Amino acid sequence: MRNMAEISVEKQLEKMRQDWDERAKENARYYVATGNEEWTDDEFFASGERTVAEEILTDMGNICQGKKPGDMRVLEIGCGAGRVTRALAKLFGEVHAVDVSGEMVRLARQATAPFPNAFIYQNNGQDLSVVPELLFDFAFSTIVFQHIPSRRIIENYVRETSRLLRPGALFKFQVQGDSTLKTTPDDTWLGVPFSESQALDMAYRCGFENRYRHGAGEQYFWLWFFKQVPERERR
Ligand SMILES: C[S@@+](CC[C@H](N)C(=O)[O-])C[C@H]1O[C@@H](n2cnc3c(N)ncnc32)[C@H](O)[C@@H]1O
Repeated sequence: MRNMAEISVEKQLEKMRQDWDERAKENARYYVATGNEEWTDDEFFASGERTVAEEILTDMGNICQGKKPGDMRVLEIGCGAGRVTRALAKLFGEVHAVDVSGEMVRLARQATAPFPNAFIYQNNGQDLSVVPELLFDFAFSTIVFQHIPSRRIIENYVRETSRLLRPGALFKFQVQGDSTLKTTPDDTWLGVPFSESQALDMAYRCGFENRYRHGAGEQYFWLWFFKQVPERERR
């Protein structure tokens, strides 16, 4: 019998898509934000506004770097049912969001239908090749990498985000920081943990500077990765 430790990346990607499609069909909003089993539209989207208020509006210096939000193009990884995407589309000029689950993408498109500046794509679960090759001013991801059981896939997303961000721009995201939890390569709920040094090494390998960290060792380990500016562009 094949050991689960040997599961291939292809199998992991297929399992992530299937498991999240099933969760979306069963109760998408609950699996997106487990605080409530029966979210109303208003409550669900208000919780996305709260995420933006807490994680973005309090951090506009790092995020906007002098630009007006309305002039900024933003990327979101793992948009789920559009809870945060909708709030991002109210604030920023353009939002491009990906999710591995076709069911989640369908719901996110419904949620953002009133916002013609929101673009939602189903991706393959490991890269951003479905996103147009545009220059992005900010990238965000919340409660997504906590669920990904492979460091290789997470690092691939970080490298891909670096490809699309303009030099100096911020990728603000979370990983799983609690290494005491038992994770397995086929578990698409409990993602692989990162230590501080693993996060720092990943930033360096992917062309970022990890300027701030918050929540190391905890479930919600926030990382501020700024895309490195090439020497010739520094003043
Ligand atoms: C807990 S939900 C959070 C959704 C959204 N970020 C929010 O806060 O409302 C996690 C989302 O990540 C997506 N996801 C999981 N693994 C993914 C992967 N490898 N690539 C892209 N999306 C993924 C799931 O389909 C799901 O929609």
